[in-house]
Amino acid sequence: MNLLRQKRILLGISGGIAAYKSAELIRRLQDQGADVRIIMTSSAMEFVKPLTYQALSSYPIHTDLLDPNAEAAMGHIELARWADVFVIAPATANTIAQIVHGEANDLLSTVILASRAPLVVVPAMNQAMWANAATQANMQTLRERHINILGPDSGSQACGDVGEGRMLDVADIVAQLGDVFKNDQLAGKHVVITAGPTREAIDPVRYISNHSSGKMGYALAQAALEAGAAVTLISGPTQLTTPERATTVQVISALDMHKAASDACQDADIFIACAAVADYRPIDIAEQKIKKNDDEMSISLTKNPDILADISHSHDSLFTVGFAAETHDLIKHATGKLERKKLNMIIANNVGADSSTGFNTDDNAVEVLYQDKTSIKQQSFAQCSKTILAKQLITFIAEKHPS
Ligand code: C5P
Repeated sequence: MNLLRQKRILLGISGGIAAYKSAELIRRLQDQGADVRIIMTSSAMEFVKPLTYQALSSYPIHTDLLDPNAEAAMGHIELARWADVFVIAPATANTIAQIVHGEANDLLSTVILASRAPLVVVPAMNQAMWANAATQANMQTLRERHINILGPDSGSQACGDVGEGRMLDVADIVAQLGDVFKNDQLAGKHVVITAGPTREAIDPVRYISNHSSGKMGYALAQAALEAGAAVTLISGPTQLTTPERATTVQVISALDMHKAASDACQDADIFIACAAVADYRPIDIAEQKIKKNDDEMSISLTKNPDILADISHSHDSLFTVGFAAETHDLIKHATGKLERKKLNMIIANNVGADSSTGFNTDDNAVEVLYQDKTSIKQQSFAQCSKTILAKQLITFIAEKHPS
């Protein structure tokens, strides 16, 4: 499985001679389908010009914490939130020390502090600097904080020394980076996920639908695959590429989605209903395109089945997770749905006009309500990319799902 496809990789380049290898790293990550953005320290710019990386990545290089133009385009907090993974390659002894001490005195160290994305440190330095007790103590601190460390390698160094401290080969970095996204939290489980909108036909060319992009459902499918689950993704029409290794069933209408989800849930362990299913459909679908004649027209609608409620009421041992997109009274409405639909968990998000998260956005922030023995508990998940959020939600679902 290509674990780097569609991942947003923030690459921090600090000032070592190995910075020249980062150009190759950018290309190889892009070959895997990753989207790469770059931060350079001022000392990295002494080794390689930002233009080199800019030409490769097709994005402006972020170098300065106090640059108003860069902040206006994509501010440092936005950059920190954007990342699915934050890779520091090369990571010099100085950058490693900054991470250990929580310094925020340049752009790279500040974004490291501000980011919730998994951090991957790829050390590269002279063998004596690597062997130094201070560096070794710092590395031990990184390990204790569960920060991912790739390398270093040993061999001949640019300075003429031979020993440990060389940056890991680019091919090895790419091969090992995917492991950051992998775990076995749902190994052996079958997870069924609905995603995207449904389209309810009015006539052969028109339909009723909504703005759901499917991004959250697809991100959950990817995260469930990475957690070792067998995944059936039942998708309404979207522009998204289907995750490799998921069994994807493409559907159009709510009735199609209902049938596909009911079939897939026969042997499922977890059902996550992320789709924005149309609540109603036209009673009659005109066989030919409806002509415009009168000044007014009306379409009679009938209620669609509630896929999630139907499946959760008919499968006692299935762990069911719903979504509640609300413009107001988020918790009240979500609690009502949790109880009415007989769910184990509901993921509530605000889709009000003033919200930057939810429908058709890349970021999301949610409140999760879940049944805990006899009471309903609540857990907040702060704003981050849908990929990171999906990973956190899958971990949470795996924890709450009785294995
Ligand atoms: O009732 P409401 O549509 O707000 O509930 C949202 C939740 O129910 C989502 O998880 C959605 O996928 C699911 N749903 C469904 N079938 C419907 C309507 C909603 O599965 N017809």
